[in-house]
Amino acid sequence: MTEELLGLPVPSVPAGDQGVAWLRAHVVRFSNGAEHARRRALTTRLIENVQVTSLDELATALGLPGSLDDIAAIAPCYQPHEAVTAEADAAVERLAGGHDELTAARIGLLVQAWAATHAFAERLRTSDPSPPVPITRRASQDGVVEVRLDAHPFGHGPHACPGRDVATRIAKNLAFRALHHQDGPFVLPNAWDHASAVALHASGFPAVGTTSLGVAAAHGLEDGAGLAGAETVRLARMLAGLPFPVTADLESGFGAAPEEVAELVAGLGVAGVNLEDGRPHGLAAPREQAELIRAVKDRAPGVFLNARVDTHWLGLALDETEERARRYVDAGADGIFVAGLTEPRDIERLAALAPLNVLAQARTPQQLGDLGVKRISTGSLLFRAALRQAVATAVQVRDGAEPPAAFGYAEVQDLSRGTRSAAG
Ligand code: HEM
Repeated sequence: MTEELLGLPVPSVPAGDQGVAWLRAHVVRFSNGAEHARRRALTTRLIENVQVTSLDELATALGLPGSLDDIAAIAPCYQPHEAVTAEADAAVERLAGGHDELTAARIGLLVQAWAATHAFAERLRTSDPSPPVPITRRASQDGVVEVRLDAHPFGHGPHACPGRDVATRIAKNLAFRALHHQDGPFVLPNAWDHASAVALHASGFPAVGTTSLGVAAAHGLEDGAGLAGAETVRLARMLAGLPFPVTADLESGFGAAPEEVAELVAGLGVAGVNLEDGRPHGLAAPREQAELIRAVKDRAPGVFLNARVDTHWLGLALDETEERARRYVDAGADGIFVAGLTEPRDIERLAALAPLNVLAQARTPQQLGDLGVKRISTGSLLFRAALRQAVATAVQVRDGAEPPAAFGYAEVQDLSRGTRSAAG
């Protein structure tokens, strides 16, 4: 029934030669028939090979750099049933150039992207499964009907969203970033494979990280020695396809040059990365690490870069850690991660610089939140706990004891297909 309704024409819009009225009259979204087909081809081509990590980059890729304030003014007035403000008309005119169809397509793409992607990001952040665009409209014999999009969040039929892949990547990036700017901290569990990542997300964690110890140890490699690059990248690529934000621990970039690390981060598809200034044999110079951070942020600005500062757990003074953290934030880091940080005064000092990430130890999330912490990682804890539990279970079986509760076979199968919640 929904599919049939979505196959009906969209309600027509009146002709217009200025402002929002012009935009509506020239975009694919409010067109039918041959006009729709032509504009659809034009619009789809514009985003065909676009690989971006943020809406800003999308605006640049579409030839409208710096236009997002104007787009934000237009978005609430775009739909034909919405009132048009003078501000929105003026914004369209600033962007419209020669009022040609190609420019309308560019503006239309950004307007579609703006509202829907923010709504999508908010749902990802809050684990809300409802469709970001709840309803659309079609012209039926009985007039304009509203069609619910619960079963088709990206639409269906001739007007289905052509921006799904771009939108999903940007929305995951936005959601992950927003998690670091909430009142309280969020707990980021760290997975080591596909099954652990989906099980954690299904249990109510909006985002999942990776643990370098877990990934390295699962492959018989030493952690922190830059040896598990290929395994980490393979896992990150696999997890990037999941429908929630994932952040990958890339250690210090596995010995690659800054431009190579930047290219890798841009192509991985993950919403965040951790980059540490520890090196297999010592510490990077602050300038060297700042250059790496700048290169990555220039190439992939939408990816949340968490700069791990290793001076603290190597026993150096807090001043050195603070100085490094400041330099990394100046270079573009979105957050800082200081492992082993437990002193309240130290935590408060570093939390003043940028969203601060610490390991889950010593204090409750509430207590860490009161000190200003924004992200609490489990690090390698879950991997180590799972390992111990697996060994304990094997011993119980061998000794004839009742083994502990475990996920059911079908439950794991379902999780792999991403179809079910592990919370219940
Ligand atoms: C980069 C972000 C996005 C871009 C560039 C984009 C672009 C577009 C365009 C151009 C259309 C009109 C297609 C046509 O009429 O033939 C469209 C339709 C649609 N988009 Fe997106 N969109 C984006 C994000 C999203 C998101 C995040 C959602 C919701 C999850 C969404 C849901 C839809 C739906 C439901 C339709 C169909 C509306 C209908 O059939 O009436 N879009 N999108």
